[in-house]
Amino acid sequence: MIIEDRPREYLERRVRAGLLEQNTVDLLRQLDVGERLDREGLVHDGIYLRREGRTQHIEIAKLTGRHVTIYGQQEVVKDLIAARLQRGGELHFEVSDVSVHDVESERPRISYSAGGSEHELECDFIAGCDGFHGICRPSIPSNLRTEYEYTYPFGWLGILAEAAPATDELIYAWHEHGFALYTMRSSKISRLYLQVPVDEELERWSDERIWAELQVRLASEGWRVNEGPILEKGITPMRTFVCEPMRHGRLFLAGDAAHIVPPTGAKGLNLAVNDVRLLAAAFAAWYRNGSAAGLDRYSDTALRRVWRAQDFSNYMTQLLHDLGGGAYESRLQLARLEYLSLSEAAATSLAENYAGLPARDDF
Ligand code: PHB
Repeated sequence: MIIEDRPREYLERRVRAGLLEQNTVDLLRQLDVGERLDREGLVHDGIYLRREGRTQHIEIAKLTGRHVTIYGQQEVVKDLIAARLQRGGELHFEVSDVSVHDVESERPRISYSAGGSEHELECDFIAGCDGFHGICRPSIPSNLRTEYEYTYPFGWLGILAEAAPATDELIYAWHEHGFALYTMRSSKISRLYLQVPVDEELERWSDERIWAELQVRLASEGWRVNEGPILEKGITPMRTFVCEPMRHGRLFLAGDAAHIVPPTGAKGLNLAVNDVRLLAAAFAAWYRNGSAAGLDRYSDTALRRVWRAQDFSNYMTQLLHDLGGGAYESRLQLARLEYLSLSEAAATSLAENYAGLPARDDF
């Protein structure tokens, strides 16, 4: 049974990330929820890295045999909700006052309010998929968990615009003014991001200023970013976070409840999907043959990929952003970017991390 504190419309409309790894696409297909994804998703063979007007294509498909697919997170959420309801699963929206109890026992409980009355649910297990600000992680006693955290001194200002993307694949741009990213949602909708200071106020960024800065940071000779009406804008902080372990008794954390990565590597949604892949297999084994082995391994196994993604996301972030370290740091970043264009080994390392290392039972 799934309980959710937001209304369905909110979840289906909220603009979040949009890049699916090969593993995520494979899993959605396996679960028979990949039909619209296969029709509407934009399959990409690589990404562009741009600096000082020079553009390098990282040939992900050629180097790894794997692809990435652009398909908005809210589209994935729509498909999952529809499939769940269609298959007769229980799914309750707009619940409130949720708390978890007795997770160290064999009979953990969830209490919550819905439709004006109080409810209590007796469970075999609780999956805490309630995000970074959720109630599940804090319900693990603080002496039994370790939290690793770093907040970058900058954020991303993101816009969604009614404009045909002027690029066939994503452009990650290094610039003296700071990082910029050109991504998309369809052949008519662009999504773009600018690095901004951590405490930046959105009011300081008029539409004109946003477009002008995107043109500067993404510049390439004889080419321009396509401009159009801005449908949405917002600023996201850049944080990195891991909670260990991801299990306490019969409570299992998954996704942002247990870990956050900076968005530069496009790993957040994909890591959450991977947690759930491992957790679902562990539950299935427990119900099928009483084996607790998968459940006992869950935290260690999930954390292996979490730390791989932590390393990669922080590598991408530090490669491309103005970290405040001055001219010497900039020159190191340019040397690293140059290395990616000189060495197929270096490009392959980036490509295999970006596409996601293949799914395994133990990774
Ligand atoms: C997005 O499409 O919103 C997106 C893509 C790649 C990223 C981050 C965000 O690294």
